[in-house]
Amino acid sequence: MNSSPMSSKTSTISALVSAAMAMTRGLFLRRASIRLLVSMFLLCSVELMHIQMANAALSPAEESALENWRQRFNLTKWTVDPCVDSATAAWVTCSTDGQTSTVISIDLKQRNLTGPIPDTTAFTNLSRLVLSENNLTGGLPPSIFNQSTLQLLYLESNQFGGSIPDMSALTSVTELALDSTQISGTIPESISRMTAATHIRLQNNPNLTGAIPDLSALSNLLYLDAGFCALNGSLPDLRNAKDLISVKLAQNDLSGTIPPALFQHEKVKYMELNDNSRLSGNVPDVTGLLEVESFQLKNCNLSGAVPHFTTNVKLKYLGLENNQFTTIPTDFTNLTDLQAMSVQNNSITGVLPDLPPSYIQTDAENQLKWITFSNNRFSGGIPKSWNELKYLEAVNADHNNLSGVIPKEMGNLTNLKHLTLSYNQFSGSIPEELGFLLKLETLSLENNQLNGTVPESLASLPNLQDLALTNNRFTAIPEVLRQKPGLNLTYDNNVQIIDGKSSSSSGLSAGAIAGVVIGAAVAIAAVLAIVLYMTRKRRKSNKDQLSKDDMPKSAHAFTLKEIKAITGNNKTLIGRGGFGPVYYGKLADGKEVAVKVRATDSKQGYSEFLNEVRLLSRLHHRNLVPLVGYCVEAQQQILVYVYMSEGSLYEHLYHSGSGAKRYQSPERQPLSWIKRLDILIDAARGIEYLHKDCNPPLIHRDVKASNILLNDKLEAKVGDLGLSKQIPEADPADGAPPTGVSTAVKGTFGYLDPEYFVRRKLTTKSDVFSFGMVILEIITCKRPQNQDFSGADDFTLAEWVQNAVSEDQLESVVDSTLKGEYNDEGMLMVAHVALKCVLPDSADRPEMGAIVTALNEALLLEGHADIPNPDSETAGSVPFSGQLVPPIILPSPPPSFVSTGQFSHPSWNTDPR
Ligand SMILES: *[C@@H]1O[C@H](CO)[C@@H](O)[C@H](O)[C@H]1NC(C)=O
Ligand SMILES: *[C@@H]1O[C@H](CO)[C@@H](O)[C@H](O)[C@H]1NC(C)=O
Ligand SMILES: *[C@@H]1O[C@H](CO)[C@@H](O)[C@H](O)[C@H]1NC(C)=O
Ligand SMILES: *[C@@H]1O[C@H](CO)[C@@H](O)[C@H](O)[C@H]1NC(C)=O
Ligand SMILES: *[C@@H]1O[C@H](CO)[C@@H](O)[C@H](O)[C@H]1NC(C)=O
Ligand SMILES: *[C@@H]1O[C@H](CO)[C@@H](O)[C@H](O)[C@H]1NC(C)=O
Ligand SMILES: *[C@@H]1O[C@H](CO)[C@@H](O)[C@H](O)[C@H]1NC(C)=O
Repeated sequence: MNSSPMSSKTSTISALVSAAMAMTRGLFLRRASIRLLVSMFLLCSVELMHIQMANAALSPAEESALENWRQRFNLTKWTVDPCVDSATAAWVTCSTDGQTSTVISIDLKQRNLTGPIPDTTAFTNLSRLVLSENNLTGGLPPSIFNQSTLQLLYLESNQFGGSIPDMSALTSVTELALDSTQISGTIPESISRMTAATHIRLQNNPNLTGAIPDLSALSNLLYLDAGFCALNGSLPDLRNAKDLISVKLAQNDLSGTIPPALFQHEKVKYMELNDNSRLSGNVPDVTGLLEVESFQLKNCNLSGAVPHFTTNVKLKYLGLENNQFTTIPTDFTNLTDLQAMSVQNNSITGVLPDLPPSYIQTDAENQLKWITFSNNRFSGGIPKSWNELKYLEAVNADHNNLSGVIPKEMGNLTNLKHLTLSYNQFSGSIPEELGFLLKLETLSLENNQLNGTVPESLASLPNLQDLALTNNRFTAIPEVLRQKPGLNLTYDNNVQIIDGKSSSSSGLSAGAIAGVVIGAAVAIAAVLAIVLYMTRKRRKSNKDQLSKDDMPKSAHAFTLKEIKAITGNNKTLIGRGGFGPVYYGKLADGKEVAVKVRATDSKQGYSEFLNEVRLLSRLHHRNLVPLVGYCVEAQQQILVYVYMSEGSLYEHLYHSGSGAKRYQSPERQPLSWIKRLDILIDAARGIEYLHKDCNPPLIHRDVKASNILLNDKLEAKVGDLGLSKQIPEADPADGAPPTGVSTAVKGTFGYLDPEYFVRRKLTTKSDVFSFGMVILEIITCKRPQNQDFSGADDFTLAEWVQNAVSEDQLESVVDSTLKGEYNDEGMLMVAHVALKCVLPDSADRPEMGAIVTALNEALLLEGHADIPNPDSETAGSVPFSGQLVPPIILPSPPPSFVSTGQFSHPSWNTDPR
C-alpha cells in the first residue's frame, strides 16, 4: 500500500489521505496487498476510514470468536484491535459501516494449522475464508457451508475427512477450492445451487465417489476441476456454461460416451478427460473447440477415428494413447502450435500423418518436439513432411508395419534425441546422415530388415547412449562403434566387425606420413565392397583397370619393382589410412618418402586416387604435401609422397603427454602457442592457395587436424587431396560468380560445414568452416564433437568456446598444457577468427587470406613475425582486431522426455486461479 493509487484524487483528498497514511503507516505498512478491501475503502471514502480508525469496533461476539481462533491456532495476540493491527492480525480483514466493524476475510493459508476448523458462525459478514495448505482435520463444518455471505472458500490441501455438507446456501460463492483432502462420499446434489460459481476445484480427492451431479444450472462456470477422484457415471452437461475455459476430469471412473455439446465450447483451453477407462464410443466433432491447447483423451476406451483437428490452431498437447482408435486423418499440418502428439497403443491402420512443418511454427515456444506413434498398425514409410520437423526431439514409431528406407533427410532433424523405429519392416541401410544428429541419445532399430554396414558416422555422436541393432540384416559394424565409451550397443552375433575403413573418423587417421588417407567419408562395408567388386569383376570393363595412360604425364610413374626396393619390401609400416597401409621408404637418392598402398581388392577410392594424382602433379605449393610419384601396376594403386617425419597435427595435439597411442605413433611434446600459430598459418596458406591461385578454385573438402602434416622442421603442409573438388567457372553468359558445386556430402564428421550438409552447396567457405574447427582444436586441444570437454554435454566445441568468450573466460577453455604462456589479446583474436569461421551462414565467414592476416597479427603479438610466403599473396587488410563475433545462439534446455513415450506437460497442472 502506498500513495500511488491516490495520485488521481483531488489535492484535498490527497492531503487527507497523506495525513491518514502518515497516521496509520506504522499499522498498515506491513499489511500486504491482501488488504485490498481496506485499500478500496481508503480510496472511496477517506473520511469513513478516518472514523473507523478512531471509533469503529468489532461486535463482542466477533471479537471473542476471533480470540477463540487466535488461541486455537496459537497465533500472536494483537495489541489494540485485530481490524487495524497489521503486525499481529494480518490474517483478519474487516469492513465497517461507520459505527461497527465486521470481519469479512480470514486468511490462514500455509500456517501449519492442525485440528478441526473453529466455529465461524459469529462472523456474520464473512465473504472470504482461506485455510489452504495446512494440516486441518475433522469434518467440514456445516456452519461454513451455511454462510451465505461467503464468496471465496479455499480449503484445499488439508486432511479433512467426512463428506461435503449441503451446499444450498453457497449461492454467492464464486470460487470453491476443496482439492487434495481426505473427504469421502459424494458431491451433494445441492452443488447445483451454486449458480454464482466460476471456479470449482475438487481435484485429487481419491475418496470422492458417485456421479457428478447436474451442473447444468452453473452457467457462470469457467473451471471445473475434478480430476484424480473416484467419480463415476457420465460426463456432466455443461452446455449452459458458455464461457467454460477448463474441463479437467482425468483419472476418474467416468463412463458412457462423450456428449457432443461438451466439444462445442469455443473458449475451452483444457479438455482433459484422460484415464477414464470406461469412457467409450467415438470422439465427437472437435471443430468447435477453437481455443483448445491441451486435449487429453488417453487411457480411455474410445474407438473409431482420431478426430480431425482442422480449426484448433492453438492445440499444443494431443494425447490419445491407449484407446481403441482405428483410423487417423492424414493431415495435421494446420496445428501450428503443436508441441506433442501421442497416439501410441491403439489399433490405427493407414499411413503416418503429415505434421506441421517447422517453418509454419513461427512461435519459438510452440514447436513440435515429441511424437509417438508406437504400437499401432501403421504402414507405409516415414512421410516426407517429417523431414521438415526440425525441432523434433523424440520420434517413436516402433511396433508398426512401417517399411521403406529410413530417409537420409532425417539427418536434418538436428534436435533429435530419441529415434525409435524398432519392430517394423524398414529396409535398406542406416543413412550415414544420422551422424549429423549430434544430440541423439537413443537410436532403436532392432527387428527390422536393415542391411549394409552400420555407418561409422554414428561413432562420432557425442551423446549416443543406446544403439539397438539386433534382428536385422546388417553385414558389418565398425569397430569404432564397439569401442565407443558409454555406448550400449546391441547387435546380432553373426555381424562382421570391421576396422575403420574411411576418413570419416577423425580419431583414426594418423601416421607419420604425408596424406595418409585417401578416402570418401562414406563408410562402406568391406563386405559390400567385396561383393560389389566381385560382381563388377565378372562383367569386367576396361574402366576398372587403371593404366598409365589414365595418369597425367607430368607425374612420375614407378614400377612395382621400384616400389618394393623403395620400401624394402614393405618393411616399415608407419600408418594405416582409409584404404590401406602406409610404408616408410627411401628413394635411390636417399630422399625419404611415404608410400601409400591401396588395398588391392577394393574398388573404392578409384576416383579419389586418380583425382589426387592429377591434382598433385599439377599443384605446387610449399604448404601442400608434394607427390613424388605413383604406381598403377598389377591392380595396385600406390602413391609416393615426400616423407613428413613429424606426423600430423592430430598426433601432436592428442598424442602428447599421456595421450592414446593408436598405431604406435610416437609420443609428442605439447606444441607451444607460437608453434601452433606457425602451423595454422602454414596450413591456412596451403588452403588459400587452393582457393585463390588455382583456376578454377579447388576445395579441399577434408580439412582436419590429421590432414595437416609436419616435416622435421615442424613446418605444416596440407595433405590428402583425394576428396578435393573444383568449382565450376563463372558462367560466361551472365558473368555471375560461381555459386558452388552440388555434390554428395563427403568429408569428416565434426569438421563438416552444416550449410554444405543442408544445402548441398560446396564452396570454399566449407573449407573455412573446417579450418575454423582446426583452430578451435589447436586452442583447446579438444576434438570437434567430442564429449570430453568438461561438463558441456550438449555443446559443440564451437559453442563451448563461444560461451567462454562471451563470459570473458577464454582462459578456461585454452589447452592447459600451454600453461598460460601466450598473449591474451592474441589468443582472443584467434578465438574470434575461429568462431567467425564456423558461423552457420557461409557468407559471414572470412576468406582464407583474411584468416592468414589475422593469424599473423596474433603471431606479432607474441613478438614473432612470420616469414612472408613467396608463393602466396595474403589478401585483405585487418578485419579482425578486437571486433566481436555475433554470438552463437545456444538452444534452451528442452523439457525432459521419458523414453517410454510419456510426455511431460508443464501446463497440465495449471492452477486455474
Ligand atoms: C454485516 O451483515 C449484516 C447482516 O447480516 C448487515 O446488516 C451489516 O450491515 C453488515 N456489516 C457490514 C459492515 O457490512
Ligand atoms: C511449518 O512447520 C515446518 C516444520 O514442521 C516448518 O519448517 C515451517 O517453517 C512451518 N511453517 C510455518 C508457516 O510456520
Ligand atoms: C502436515 O503434517 C505432516 C506431519 O504430521 C508434516 O510432515 C507436513 O509438513 C504438514 N504439512 C503442513 C502443510 O503443515
Ligand atoms: C470398451 O468399449 C467396447 C465397445 O466399444 C466395449 O465392448 C468394451 O466392453 C469396453 N470396455 C470397457 C472396459 O469398458
Ligand atoms: C535435408 O537433407 C537433404 C539431404 O539429406 C537435403 O537435400 C535437403 O535439402 C535438406 N532439407 C532441408 C530443409 O534442409
Ligand atoms: C539392402 O536392402 C535393399 C532394399 O531391400 C536392397 O535393394 C539391397 O540390395 C540390399 N543390399 C544388400 C547388400 O543386401
Ligand atoms: C542395453 O540395450 C538393450 C537393448 O535396448 C537393453 O535391453 C539393455 O537393458 C540395455 N542395457 C543397459 C545397461 O542399459
